[in-house]
Amino acid sequence: MEVVETCAEMSRLSWSSDRPLGLVPTMGALHEGHLSLVQRARADNQTLAASIFVNPTQFGPNEDFARYPRSLQRDLELLDAEGTDLVFVPPPHEVYPDGFDTWVEPGSVAEGMEGAARPGHFRGVATVVAKLFTIIRPDRAYFGQKDGQQVAVIRKMNADLNLGVDVVTMPTIREPDGLALSSRNAYLTSDERETAPAVYRALCAAEDVWRRGERDAGRIQRAAHNILGREPLIDAVDYVSIVDADTMQPVETVHDGRPVMIAVAVRVGTVRLIDNVTKL
Ligand code: PAJ
Repeated sequence: MEVVETCAEMSRLSWSSDRPLGLVPTMGALHEGHLSLVQRARADNQTLAASIFVNPTQFGPNEDFARYPRSLQRDLELLDAEGTDLVFVPPPHEVYPDGFDTWVEPGSVAEGMEGAARPGHFRGVATVVAKLFTIIRPDRAYFGQKDGQQVAVIRKMNADLNLGVDVVTMPTIREPDGLALSSRNAYLTSDERETAPAVYRALCAAEDVWRRGERDAGRIQRAAHNILGREPLIDAVDYVSIVDADTMQPVETVHDGRPVMIAVAVRVGTVRLIDNVTKL
C-alpha cells in the first residue's frame, strides 16, 4: 500500500494504475461503515484508492473540526488489511494552498436539511470531492447512504459538471440496536448512547405508518416526532423531512413508485445525529 501526501504524486500514481480504479473518500476514524465501502470497492476494481482528509471547509466555525476524531495509524492498518493500493493523506495546505479561491457551489439539492442547518457545509463537501475526482480520476467512487443528502449533492455535481465518475451508493451499516455507525458516536456519553437508537426507531415508525397505507407526509413525519418527543435527552429535533430521493425537495404526498427519503437530525447534548431511510 502506498501512502501519498501530495496531489502531484497521487495523480501520477492513480493516472498510471490499472483500471478500473475505485475511490473511497473519508475523513478517517474508520469504522465498519467505511470498511463496507472499501470492501465493495475492492471487489469491483483493479485498483483501490482511499483518501483520509478531515476537510476544514465543510465544518462551520462553531463545529467540531478541532476535536474531530483522528486515528491515522489505525486507519492505515485497516485499509492495508482490506487490500487498499493507494491512500491519499494530504496535509491541509496541499488541498487548500494559500490563495485558494475557487468553489463548487451546489444548488437547490443542498438547500434544505443539512444545508440549512450547516451553512456552507455542502460547498465544502462538493469542492473537496470535485478536487479528489480531479486529482485521482476514479472510474467509480463509493459513498454511504448514511449521509443521504451528501450523496444527492455529489451525484448532481458529478452530472452537472460532467465529471464522469460512476457514483456508487452503499447501505447504512448499523449497531445491533439500530444506531447508524458514525465517527461522531464517540462523543456520546453512556446515557446519550442509550438514547441515540431512538433516531432509527423514529425512522422505522414513520416507515411503518407508510407501510400501513399512510401517504400524507405530515402524518408520516408525526409518527417519527412522537418517538423522538418521548426522549428527554434529545435536546432538539432539527428536522424530520420527507424529500424526493434525487432532488431533496420536500414532498407533501408520498406517491408509489416515486422514491423518497425520510431523514432525521437531532441534537443529543453536544452531538448532532443524522440518519435516514429510503425504502419507500
Ligand atoms: P466520512 O464521514 O468519513 O464518511 C466517509 C464515507 O463513509 C461517506 O460516504 C459516508 O456516507 C460513509 N459512511 C459513514 N458512516 C456510514 C455507515 N454507518 N454506513 C455506511 N456508510 C457510512 O462523508 C465524509 O466523510 C466527507 O463528507 C467526505 C465525503 C469524505 C468529503 O470530505
